[in-house]
Amino acid sequence: MASTTDSSAPVSPLTPDQVKLIKESWRILAPKLGLVAKQFYARLFDLDPGLEAFFSKIAMDQQGKKFTDTITIVVKGLDYFEMLVPAIGQLGSRHEGYGVKDEHYVVVKRALLGALGSNLGDRFAGGTQEAWSITYDALAEIMKKGQQDGPVTIPGIGS
Ligand code: HEM
Repeated sequence: MASTTDSSAPVSPLTPDQVKLIKESWRILAPKLGLVAKQFYARLFDLDPGLEAFFSKIAMDQQGKKFTDTITIVVKGLDYFEMLVPAIGQLGSRHEGYGVKDEHYVVVKRALLGALGSNLGDRFAGGTQEAWSITYDALAEIMKKGQQDGPVTIPGIGS
């Protein structure tokens, strides 16, 4: 079966050094991802209280785990980023169903970088922050494209 990935699919947006910075910072945060997720959603709802209603049907610790698990998969996959693109696009396409709009990705970025920064302290300065910013922007772009394009079905994969 031919791949559904076209030649315009993004390759890794990061340099090898930036990949290292992301992996190292996520390794530092690994023991406290539950807390990071909690702080991320607290910041998100602080920045935009209207977003709380989007998550009214799910327990937030469960949602936090889903979110950080996804980031973990992305971090682990940064060396073969193009292979992650279809799954990230599908995640984006599901977000269309959750009612997510392009502008929400900007608020989520601020909340995520804020939560990462408050836990990483000085280690977030300089290159690490920039690497996370680039990674998030790549994720958001692929998700938004997935929202526009609709679900992609790959026989035997997904539901
Ligand atoms: C990099 C960005 C994002 C990632 C990695 C991410 C990840 C996830 C994951 C893994 C889920 C679990 C359900 C699924 O897999 O379909 C989810 C659900 C959800 N996300 Fe996101 N998301 C992102 C951005 C956003 C944004 C910008 C919003 C806007 C507010 C949002 C709102 C939601 C909502 C409302 C749900 C459903 C909650 C429920 O089950 O009731 N997400 N997200």
